[in-house]
Amino acid sequence: MDTQLLENTARDLVAAGKGILAADESNGTMSNRLESVGVTASSETRRAYRTNLFATEGYQDFISGVILFDETIRQTMSDGRSIPDALSSIGVYPGIKVDTGAKDLANNSGEKITEGLDGLRARCEEYFLMGARFAKWRAVIQIGNNKPSSACISTNAHALARYASICQEQGLVPIIEPEVLMAGNHDAQTCYDVTSEILEATFAECRMQGVHLPGALLKPNMIIAGSSCPNQITREEVANLTVDCLTKHVPHDLPGIVFLSGGQSDEDATAHLNLMNAMDVEHPWELSYSYGRALLANALKTWANDEHEGSQSVFLHRAKMNSLARTGDWNSDLE
Ligand code: 13P
Repeated sequence: MDTQLLENTARDLVAAGKGILAADESNGTMSNRLESVGVTASSETRRAYRTNLFATEGYQDFISGVILFDETIRQTMSDGRSIPDALSSIGVYPGIKVDTGAKDLANNSGEKITEGLDGLRARCEEYFLMGARFAKWRAVIQIGNNKPSSACISTNAHALARYASICQEQGLVPIIEPEVLMAGNHDAQTCYDVTSEILEATFAECRMQGVHLPGALLKPNMIIAGSSCPNQITREEVANLTVDCLTKHVPHDLPGIVFLSGGQSDEDATAHLNLMNAMDVEHPWELSYSYGRALLANALKTWANDEHEGSQSVFLHRAKMNSLARTGDWNSDLE
């Protein structure tokens, strides 16, 4: 394992004022998103939408890396350059989603286990040669009716650590993503408890399997009440509970935590990150973003209206707002 390469890449991905763009929707998800704004989904429309974003002038000031899907890493920009080469040429790290999706967990109805370990070593080797320097694997944890089960927690934690070990062996920084979903009517305390449990299990597996934490990143959910819970908490409470949970359950030798947005509004995702970074305490890790929808939802709608430069400006604005949230310097007037 080249620990120096991994540590350098991980630190660069959470460099001051920068975060990650998650543009790794599977073909199915990306197609649904395109269809939802009236665009016929195809390999070419997925390419055209994404390469327009990747051609945005100046976004590398706010974005350190872009997570790609297998289809995208093999596609080209409009000028014929390969997408990973185009990203690398402006100092943006290409990343790659390497899981193959969340599938039904046997014997545990309604729960998911993320698959993709078979053949992973060879795929990582190929992605590294194509220019990828980091990877993502997303485990999905649903709350509700005696869920999550301990089987769901332990199988997903085990798979996350196996994935992380294989990536590191092949020179890719693993983003370890155990996502506790917002869907449901659970309260924020339940989200806190379940998040604590999956984090403990994941890092116990990482320790057992020898994952080199200074060369890895964590991508967690924030601590939020379920989207249909009547008792929503304030932005300040989200920020305080999230930092409290992470401080207790995330090892301090990890260089960075890059949140997912998970269905939060654009502005909530920015405001929560801003509040965490504005706190009067020094956190042990960088607190940054790896947002998908919170960076791109409006950019997609604008692109679908044939406003390609407009889509780039909308994306650039959101990236800049989140960059300001890295130092607690965002406020709603800037919106
Ligand atoms: P969202 O920010 O839209 O949740 O996407 C981030 C991501 O990559 C989820 O795996």
